[in-house]
Amino acid sequence: MKAMTEQNLINAFGGESQAHMRYLHFADQADKENFPNTARLFRAISHAEYVHAGDHYRELIHLEGGFVANSMAAFGPGDTKKNIRLAIMGENYEITEMYPSFIEIAKFQGEKGAERSFRWAYGTEKMHKILFEKAKESVDRNTDAVLGPIQVCRICGYTLEGEAPDKCPLCEAKKEDFTAFT
Ligand SMILES: [Fe+2]
Ligand SMILES: [Fe+2]
Repeated sequence: MKAMTEQNLINAFGGESQAHMRYLHFADQADKENFPNTARLFRAISHAEYVHAGDHYRELIHLEGGFVANSMAAFGPGDTKKNIRLAIMGENYEITEMYPSFIEIAKFQGEKGAERSFRWAYGTEKMHKILFEKAKESVDRNTDAVLGPIQVCRICGYTLEGEAPDKCPLCEAKKEDFTAFT
C-alpha cells in the first residue's frame, strides 16, 4: 500500500476510535443532565464511529507492528451544550478537511479499498453533523432533543433518523443490516 494512504488510514482509525469513546462519555453526561434522547443520539453515532474505525482497520491487514496515529481530537469535557459544540466541530473537520483530502489522495494513489472506506465515513459524518445540529437547537434551550429511532448501518456506519431503508444509500446493505437505537 502507498505510504501516504496507509498513514491516512492509521490516522483515520485513531480519529474514529477517539470519536467513538468521546461520544460514549458525552452520552453519560447527557444522561446525568436528564437528556435521554441526546444520550441515545451520542450512543448511536458512537456506534457508527466504531463501524468506521473497523472499516479502516480491516484495510490495514497487511501491517504488523506499532504505528503512531495522529488525529485531530477535541479535548475538554463539559456539559452537554459544550459537548455538542465539540461534536459538531469534530464532524465538520472530517467533512471539510480530513475525508475529502484522504479520498483524493487514495484515488490518486489507486488505493480502492481505502478510498471506499474513506467515502463511507465521509458520507456518514455529513449525517452526523445534521443530527447533532438538530439536537443542539433543543439542548441550547435546556430541553432534550426530539428524535425518532436512529438507524446505523453495520457495514458502512450510515446513520439516519426514522425507519431503516430497504437498501443503505451508501453501501447498499440490506434493511436487516441496520441497528436501531430507540
Ligand atoms: Fe461522525
Ligand atoms: Fe451502509
